[in-house]
Amino acid sequence: MGGPSTIPEVHDFLSRLFHDHDLIPLPFQSILAPIIAKRRTPQIEKQYTEIGGGSPILKWTKIQGEEMCKLLDELNPESAPHKPYVAFRYAKPLTEDCLEEMKKDGVKRAIAFTQYPQYSCSTTGSSLNELFRIAKKDGYGDQGSVEWSVMDRWPVNKGLIEAFAQNIKTALQQYPEERRNDVVILFSAHSLPLEIVNRGDPYTAEVAATVHSVMTELNFCNPYRLTWQSKVGPKAWQGPQTASAIEGFAKIGKKDVCLVPIAFTSDHIETLYELDIEVKEEAEKLGIHLTRASSLNDSPIFLRAIADLVSNHMKDYDAGKIGPTGKQLSLRCPGCVNPKCGKTKEWLANGGKDLAVAA
Ligand code: FES
Repeated sequence: MGGPSTIPEVHDFLSRLFHDHDLIPLPFQSILAPIIAKRRTPQIEKQYTEIGGGSPILKWTKIQGEEMCKLLDELNPESAPHKPYVAFRYAKPLTEDCLEEMKKDGVKRAIAFTQYPQYSCSTTGSSLNELFRIAKKDGYGDQGSVEWSVMDRWPVNKGLIEAFAQNIKTALQQYPEERRNDVVILFSAHSLPLEIVNRGDPYTAEVAATVHSVMTELNFCNPYRLTWQSKVGPKAWQGPQTASAIEGFAKIGKKDVCLVPIAFTSDHIETLYELDIEVKEEAEKLGIHLTRASSLNDSPIFLRAIADLVSNHMKDYDAGKIGPTGKQLSLRCPGCVNPKCGKTKEWLANGGKDLAVAA
């Protein structure tokens, strides 16, 4: 998804976001999207100002990519040097900027590695559809000039789970020992409109799988729940919302809650503003002592995890054990009505070749 690095980028970021039918299906999208983006811009600019004048997501994504590639050069010296490129869906660098840079560098082999551990057609799916669209439009990487493979989900990767568990343990240390085991661990993930969930999107189940694996790693040391944040607009979204869950916990006498952003790998507005400012203020008013587990950002366990993931992917791919895409990516949602999904999946399953067949 990405995020605006500076305040003047906020409007364009929102405009791209509300134009994306894969993420937010709106009636009369091309008319409504600019109106909503314009109306929301001042409020969102204010939020980005409060967290320091922009989103740190590009900074973190670059650090993660660079550190991952250093490890990868050691793990897979035969294919070194490795280089990370960033493609955001709604902020710069966009997919077209990323492909342009790859083209300049003469890249011939690339892995599209989603930084969403859990797959949703509205996030990773939308980004892959965009990759297909831009490659086809610009004629680079579309017909075999780049050999593509895809890492489309990794919700229960061992290193990812260990990195989350480690950050939760650190956060729990802030509570006095006699209260520590009763702190509610509240996993919070970005919500989705229910119409996306109900067409068979895999995200909800994959987020739940991550939560269960993290709690297994923690030996189910505390009570926990999974809730959802960042709903926009009047439509029904996956609930319960994180803020209303905290209200509910206050009513049943809970005093200590530790928030865990479980579907993000780095800090951005949803952690730094929504959780750390908005939700925290509400919790304090309700008498709840709220802490938050740090985002993964530059966690050494996490950096090692993503390097291992890519290393194993490359080894398995080169040995012919796996193809350009996994089996799960090939399956469209039972309620999918987006023909782009089918074309993108077919193109990627061919490793970015045979566009004429796919298009
Ligand atoms: Fe899921 Fe198209 S919406 S495959």
